[in-house]
Amino acid sequence: MLEGKKVNLRVLGRDDYPLLMEWLNQPEIFGRYNPLHQVNMDDVGKIFTSPHELRSFIVENKEGAKVGFIDYFYVLHPASKQLEVGYSFIPSERGKGYGTEALEVMVDFVFLTQDTVRIQAQTDPRNLASQKVLQKAGFIKEGVLRKTFFIRGEWTDSWIYSVLREEWKGPRVLTA
Ligand SMILES: CC(C)(COP(=O)(O)OP(=O)(O)OC[C@H]1O[C@@H](n2cnc3c(N)ncnc32)[C@H](O)[C@@H]1OP(=O)(O)O)[C@@H](O)C(=O)NCCC(=O)NCCS
Repeated sequence: MLEGKKVNLRVLGRDDYPLLMEWLNQPEIFGRYNPLHQVNMDDVGKIFTSPHELRSFIVENKEGAKVGFIDYFYVLHPASKQLEVGYSFIPSERGKGYGTEALEVMVDFVFLTQDTVRIQAQTDPRNLASQKVLQKAGFIKEGVLRKTFFIRGEWTDSWIYSVLREEWKGPRVLTA
């Protein structure tokens, strides 16, 4: 368990698959700027045992309620050492600082445990809330990836953000 001040991050296990299936099948969990999913339990198992060493965490608030999830994975292959993060929170729990702190905890955890010098994230140019969270967690916009995702019937660009180990300057939330 990774403990923050507002949230805890708990490694996702098989017991979480039914909840994940419920969340993945609700378009509002991912918001307007992410692809839609419709999955069964087998799909959930495959998604969360992906070859890119996807490591997913359920985010819980301090009352123990499950409020979202956050993950990291290797962009190409584990040998590439290029890590990307993704996250989603249930609509009723947004705007409480959970997204920002979960990302800060994740950045701390990755830099404390993984031999990587950069963590990246992609977001839709219209996703202002996600951009705010990234900036607050120390990420810097690098540029535009053109036509990366097929969302609601159209190819959309994504903005790529990153934080480098040298910019991180040590844990913000976790203690080493
Ligand atoms: C993006 C998301 C993860 C943010 O999580 P969150 O827990 O609400 O984030 P926080 O509460 O830590 O902070 C949100 C910040 O965005 C701001 N914000 C929210 N909606 C906004 C909007 N439409 N325009 C501008 N800023 C916005 C909030 O004011 C807050 O900033 P503040 O603390 O300075 O006031 C959440 O909205 C979400 O799950 N969205 C759907 C899935 C998604 O888009 N995931 C990211 C894919 S890249």
